[in-house]
Amino acid sequence: MKEISQAVIRRMPRYYRYLGELIDSGVERISSSDLSARMNVTASQIRQDLNNFGGFGQQGYGYNVKNLFEEIGKILGLNEKHNIIIVGAGNLGQALANYIEFEKFGFLITALFDINPDLKQQRVRGIPVYMSEELDAFAQKNRVDIAALTIPKSKADTIANHLVDLGIPAIWNFANVDLELSDKNVMVENVHLSDSLMQLSYNIVKNKKEMQTGRSNV
Ligand code: NAI
Repeated sequence: MKEISQAVIRRMPRYYRYLGELIDSGVERISSSDLSARMNVTASQIRQDLNNFGGFGQQGYGYNVKNLFEEIGKILGLNEKHNIIIVGAGNLGQALANYIEFEKFGFLITALFDINPDLKQQRVRGIPVYMSEELDAFAQKNRVDIAALTIPKSKADTIANHLVDLGIPAIWNFANVDLELSDKNVMVENVHLSDSLMQLSYNIVKNKKEMQTGRSNV
């Protein structure tokens, strides 16, 4: 299979979301220029991106929204179910477990793990919280596709490497640290909510400055 750049892959979820919204509002087909206007991406970018996967569009017809949605879903592996465990059942871990929409995309949270005895035998949205000692047995008995790491950053490397030893192939890392893993084949996706806040902060400051300069030019 042709290697697709990560930049293209990163844009795919956005296409997927927009196409899902179009389906919900009853749109059956769309041209790349209409999709471009809605998504604020150039039409040529859209054509280029989708050509990576064999096109899907037809000259003069545009894209069949449902087909494209399903194809992108397959590309993103959303036609398969992914079992997720959450390690660290604190504020963030519980918030993730409480979010029901992940299931819509085939991500099923099957268990949370923590060291805090107060959480023993608790459930979050019906999902069991187990003590960390139970992790190995759970991973041996149940398929785990992704482990979400929502623990303090000081413990992240040790826990992540333990998850790797258990054969868990992918880590969704929220602990603000670049993991040093013993197996480089394990996939890691880092999430930094503060990065997008900093970007927002940059734009707020930039906007303020532009308004001040605009005013002083009047
Ligand atoms: P929290 O303190 O509410 O939860 C952490 C949980 O991890 C606690 O329940 C604790 O008992 C558990 N824990 C500690 N050591 C453990 C171990 N060895 N095994 C299993 N569980 C263990 O903290 P919060 O607010 O939920 O944050 C969790 C992590 O996520 C922190 O590292 C924080 O910096 C990070 N974070 C990252 C964000 C991001 O955008 N990437 C946003 C918010 C938090």
